[in-house]
Amino acid sequence: MPKFDQIYNLACPASPVHYQYDRVKTALTCSHGTLNLLQKAAADRARFFQASTSEIYGDPEVHPQTENYRGNVNTVGPRSCYDEGKRFAETLVTDFGAQHGLTTRIVRIFNTYGPRMHPDDGRVVSNFIVQALLGEDITIYGSGEQTRSFCFVDDLVEGFVRLMNADSGIDGPVNIGNPNETTVNQLAEQILEMVGSKSKIVHHPLPVDDPRRRKPDISNALARLNWSPQVSLHDGLAETIAYFIEEMSTSGRRSSALAS
Ligand SMILES: NC(=O)c1ccc[n+]([C@@H]2O[C@H](COP(=O)([O-])OP(=O)(O)OC[C@H]3O[C@@H](n4cnc5c(N)ncnc54)[C@H](O)[C@@H]3O)[C@@H](O)[C@H]2O)c1
Repeated sequence: MPKFDQIYNLACPASPVHYQYDRVKTALTCSHGTLNLLQKAAADRARFFQASTSEIYGDPEVHPQTENYRGNVNTVGPRSCYDEGKRFAETLVTDFGAQHGLTTRIVRIFNTYGPRMHPDDGRVVSNFIVQALLGEDITIYGSGEQTRSFCFVDDLVEGFVRLMNADSGIDGPVNIGNPNETTVNQLAEQILEMVGSKSKIVHHPLPVDDPRRRKPDISNALARLNWSPQVSLHDGLAETIAYFIEEMSTSGRRSSALAS
């Protein structure tokens, strides 16, 4: 088995449709899966990085969300396997690191998007782009007035690397995300316009425990890592749309935008 200097644990289904498919497995991925990698880090004396999530704030009562907000999470809802799984993983990483003298890092990731998402990923950005390209209805859950803050993947990865390699001044989890808050309705309209799609917007019921507002306070990342997102929503969406056009034309799932 190779020896590692650094271990990044990103393994976990992240889209609600995927993490709710086998909820017990999701909870165990967060617990046993994280423990397995922590044990490997201890054996190698490696630095350990845990991908946590803004979902640990649940449906937040504090806005924007700072790292010291403790969250509003349902322990027994359909999202709990993921939300509580990730909360437990934060505890495990912190305690294991302290007991074994390991350097650990925890990032709380807010909604991230970009090229190479799976067309059936099930999260809002890829759903809307694929639907717009295929000329299918754009499905908005609830009124669409709920907000999210979307971070482009390149910005996120830059934040990961800075956090992992920072040598001092890191105490506890760090929010990494884009504080530019947008409603789901605004996102749908922007994607429709950029794709030039005639798709109709339809509304479906809001999933249980869906957070109403989501926006990171990134002052910690800015102060400690000199990190802030550089890619605008418009530019990130343009790159992501171009990716899906290419992906769908080579996979045979031809878009109506391409046909016109
Ligand atoms: N993308 C986001 O907006 C976002 C937001 C918050 C947190 N995160 C976290 O970042 C990480 C990556 O997210 P993503 O969006 O790339 O998700 P993704 O679903 O696209 O990728 C997750 C990966 O984990 C692997 N995986 C799942 N269960 C596993 C297991 N038991 N053992 C080994 N591998 C397993 C999957 O095969 C997949 O390759 C996840 O931990 C997720 O919780 C992502």
